Amino acid sequence: MLKVLLSDIQIKDAVKRLAAEVMENHPDGVLLVGVLKGAFVFLADLLREFPADYNVSVDFVQVSSYSGTESTGLVKFLKDIDQPIEGRDVILVEDIVDTGLTLQRLYEIFLARHPKTLEVMVLLDKKERRQVDVPIHYTGFVIPDEFVIGYGLDYNERFRNLPYVGVYEGE
Ligand code: IMP
Repeated sequence: MLKVLLSDIQIKDAVKRLAAEVMENHPDGVLLVGVLKGAFVFLADLLREFPADYNVSVDFVQVSSYSGTESTGLVKFLKDIDQPIEGRDVILVEDIVDTGLTLQRLYEIFLARHPKTLEVMVLLDKKERRQVDVPIHYTGFVIPDEFVIGYGLDYNERFRNLPYVGVYEGE
C-alpha cells in the first residue's frame, strides 16, 4: 500500500541545496511563507538549514483546495499572514504543485501586496499535471503523476508523519 519514492536522505540533500540557492539569491534575507498544512514539515527542515547570521523569518497561510485525491478547482483562503510584505523579499513555500491552481491564486494575492520580490518554492512538482502556468523558482524534485503522502503530505489527514515521501496505493 506504500512505496517509497524519496527517502529521508534524498529529501535532506534537496532541502540543503534549496537553502543554499535562497541565500545566494537573497543575501540580505527573506520571508518564507509556508502553505499549511502540507508545507510545515518541509518548511521546518528548510528553516534549520539557515545559519544564525542569516536574516530569515517565517509566516504561514492556509488554503484548502482538495478533498480526497482530486482537486476541486476551488481555492479557499482560510488563514492569512500576520505582517505586511511591501518591499520585502518573499518566497511562497509549498509542499507540492499539481494543477498549479492553488499557487497561481496565492501568487496573485501576494503580488498585489507589492513585495520587493516574490518567488515560489516547491518540494515536489507533478509537472505533467499542470493546468495553469505558475512561476516556480526553486524545485526539490519533479515527480510522476501519482498521489504521494508523507513528509507533511496527507491522504485525508493521514500519513503526514512519515519521514519519507511515498506513493499511496490504497488500503
Ligand atoms: P494544485 O492546486 O492542484 O497545484 O494542488 C496543490 C495542493 O494539492 C497541494 O498543496 C497539496 O495540498 C495537494 N496535493 C496535490 N497533489 C497531492 C498529492 O499527491 N498528495 C497530497 N496532496 C496533494
